[in-house]
Amino acid sequence: MTTASGAAARGARTFPPGFLWGAATAAYQIEGAVTEDGRGPSVWDTFSHTPGKTAGGETGDVACDFYHRYEHDLDLLAGLGLSTFRFSVAWSRVQPDGRGPVNQAGLDFYRALVDGLQARGVLPAITLFHWDLPQALEDGGGWAVRDTALRFAEYAEIVAAALGDANALWLTLNEPQQVAHQGYRVGTHAPGHTDDALAAAATHHLLLGHGLALARLRATLPAATRIGISIDIHPVRAHGEGAEEAAAILDAEINRVFFDPIVHGRYPRAARPYVLPPPGLIEPGDMELIRAPLDFVGINYYSPHYVTIGGGAEPGIGGVAGAVEFKPEGLPRTSMGWLIEPEGLFDTLVAVDNELPDGVELYVTENGCAAPDSVGADGEVEDHERIDYLYGHIEAARRAIARGVPLAGYFVWSLLDNFEWAWGYDKRFGLVFVDFETQERIPKRSAGFYRQLAISNSLPREPPARRRPAGDAVA
Ligand code: FCB
Repeated sequence: MTTASGAAARGARTFPPGFLWGAATAAYQIEGAVTEDGRGPSVWDTFSHTPGKTAGGETGDVACDFYHRYEHDLDLLAGLGLSTFRFSVAWSRVQPDGRGPVNQAGLDFYRALVDGLQARGVLPAITLFHWDLPQALEDGGGWAVRDTALRFAEYAEIVAAALGDANALWLTLNEPQQVAHQGYRVGTHAPGHTDDALAAAATHHLLLGHGLALARLRATLPAATRIGISIDIHPVRAHGEGAEEAAAILDAEINRVFFDPIVHGRYPRAARPYVLPPPGLIEPGDMELIRAPLDFVGINYYSPHYVTIGGGAEPGIGGVAGAVEFKPEGLPRTSMGWLIEPEGLFDTLVAVDNELPDGVELYVTENGCAAPDSVGADGEVEDHERIDYLYGHIEAARRAIARGVPLAGYFVWSLLDNFEWAWGYDKRFGLVFVDFETQERIPKRSAGFYRQLAISNSLPREPPARRRPAGDAVA
């Protein structure tokens, strides 16, 4: 474990030299152009076009039209002083059926994107799978079948060989827990299954896909030094008597079910059996592949869960008997309804680092806040909730570094307002406002705040003062 840098130790709000400041995105949430240049359909095309699955029936058909506007958007992000940009590759642009022949036009798009980033001095952070499984693979069983993991490894090798550049961050999967849980167990995400056995099988095959892809990336990119994965961690806080056991079960089922195999090579014992893959699915050698050394672990952190026993209004958190969500007084929420608690990021970074072998770096690969943003009469978007959220969490990250956590970069979710999965376009997470009628981009106040941070590599002592809302009396 590294030690605190001098500046951090003295309490200055400066980050270590070379710390990466980025923004994160995902293909289906921004690209649009879903039928262009040979792209095949993904499970998210199917799901979003199925009535009742997304808010207002919204789809990613157009999204931010990033596929056509990426040069402009790269100028925008370079103008924000960002040193890295996280995007995902849409598997079905590269292999329309998820297997077999390569669609060169799809690969060319990502090559152009990587070239465009490098020309602007921005480090690419390439996620190979951010939820948009080719529909043809889903038709063959999706992540519930072992073959999908093998296909993923092949696809990973194709992308690595085509974009092959040692100087990039490579991420195998984004938040596999959300895929298994929302996609296969509760059906709120594509492909929309509601089957515990499928979810448990998907859990193992996502992990196996990660392990197999990791091996292919290592073989194809021998000089690469930053290969990892993004997992979502939600600290689970026990509140009141008797809640510890429920909290431990939830922690096992939402955090450790992916973290433990990747880091320790085993499934967590505290998870209930139906959540875990049946032993018959786990072939000899699988767990060794899954726990192969990583260069970094990417943490996506948004909010904690508080669990208490009985008496609450929202029964059955995580389906654990008697456990209900506790709403701590005074903790604000974002417009997703997610609790805002920067300390949860600090705790997560420290706890994760404690379990990682020495030399494994951490990145915050997603953190951010949805807010009810709108363009004011003066043409500005005054998103002070977002600035406060970012300030608090980035300060928590800085404190974790001062404690010795080898955190090497931070990615805000997201660069642009975009298609927020089942929530459609209503939930705005961007530093940059997108008018989805005209595709106009308007950097919000938070973009200016983040730019200053990225350029100076330090936080101001206080969060920027709020501007007086238009119409307020001036003293
Ligand atoms: C994460 C996803 C990302 C985005 C944010 C708000 O779970 O990885 O695509 O939707 O939440």
